[in-house]
Amino acid sequence: MSADPLTPYGNKPMVTPIVNAVNYQYCSFDVLRQITDGQIDGYTYHRDDNPTVRAVEKKIAAMEGAEDCILCTSGMAACIMVYLTYLSAGDHLILFHDIYGAHYKLSLILERLGIDITWIHVSQAPVIQNFIKPNTRMIFCETPSNPLCKIIDIRALKNEAKMVGALLVVDNTFATPYHQKPLSLGADIVVHSATKALGGHNDLMAGAIAGSRTEYDRLWFTRQAMGTTLDAYSGSLLERGLKTFDIRAEKMASNAMAIAEYLSQHSKISRVYYPGLMIDQGNSVALRQMENGFGGVLAFDVGNTQEDAKKFISELKSIFHAVSLGSTESLVCIPYLTTLLYMPEERRIVFGVRENTVRLSAGIEKTDLLINDIEQSLNKLMITEEKKTLQPFEYA
Ligand SMILES: Cc1ncc(COP(=O)(O)O)c(C=O)c1O
Repeated sequence: MSADPLTPYGNKPMVTPIVNAVNYQYCSFDVLRQITDGQIDGYTYHRDDNPTVRAVEKKIAAMEGAEDCILCTSGMAACIMVYLTYLSAGDHLILFHDIYGAHYKLSLILERLGIDITWIHVSQAPVIQNFIKPNTRMIFCETPSNPLCKIIDIRALKNEAKMVGALLVVDNTFATPYHQKPLSLGADIVVHSATKALGGHNDLMAGAIAGSRTEYDRLWFTRQAMGTTLDAYSGSLLERGLKTFDIRAEKMASNAMAIAEYLSQHSKISRVYYPGLMIDQGNSVALRQMENGFGGVLAFDVGNTQEDAKKFISELKSIFHAVSLGSTESLVCIPYLTTLLYMPEERRIVFGVRENTVRLSAGIEKTDLLINDIEQSLNKLMITEEKKTLQPFEYA
């Protein structure tokens, strides 16, 4: 056989090559058979698998302490793959109100397919047994949650889920594997919007699902059927992002903590939601299940009205007004007007988000730059009634 054109003398490229091929020439019927039987990792068609993407899957699996990981086209693609892989008509699914807004849309589709859904509050997690039914097949949660960074005790939830053999799925996008490894806490499956901190540079969309090899095989079946396989170029960008992931995650978290502490002392901020603050209701559980800090995202209420929050954002100079999170740049948005916009009004406020709640994703800038920017903007804000002490944040 002729030498591999990439490594004719054995010198390997320092980065995983981007393989854009849709299809691959079969070297033999035997090898084709072994690949299609899943005995060896090989490549036949992009919708099945791609070598660039596969290399990144292995890296994310290692980061999450998983046997394997499967990548797909977005975080929401990962969520729908999980739902469609494990749920059938007649099954019961428990969802938390405190979850990325697009799940609301997905829930409408799932209900149309005959899946019974119960929405509960994070404050109800300790009594989840009251909501579990004999046909509960899955509990899906985010911790910290989007956007109020509420914390759910993963170990406790798993103890209840296993009573009926339900799968516990944890979206680890806000925490990232740098701060939390849900599989080690009992979760069955971990989901990521890899668009966020794993990628980290606002330049790719991807979803990741990590778990056992058995779950990988099941999810692979769904991805192959649906065609949600990640493209090689995005896979390569994601691999590049992972190289700096640890130091970015550390800096994002220390910036978020510094900003949360600063805001919690500020008279124009009435509530701060960040599990790293001792005043936060999730702090004690977060200390038990998170490590190296509490993640790069926080939320806070500015002044008294949405106009106050808008004015605050409009005056920022270094922090960008944009959705998404986990990137090198710090980003702010008003969830009420963005990620939750398409929900019915009553659902937007049911879990504690207010019209003047701002979500901030800390980037990797110098901490002083961010605090000074926030300070100069808050200095310009004229609010009628200034609060005297920070309101403890009670979970809805
Ligand atoms: C916690 C969380 N999960 C899932 C998603 C969906 O990810 P994507 O935008 O990559 O589809 C998001 C998006 O913001 C998110 O914040």
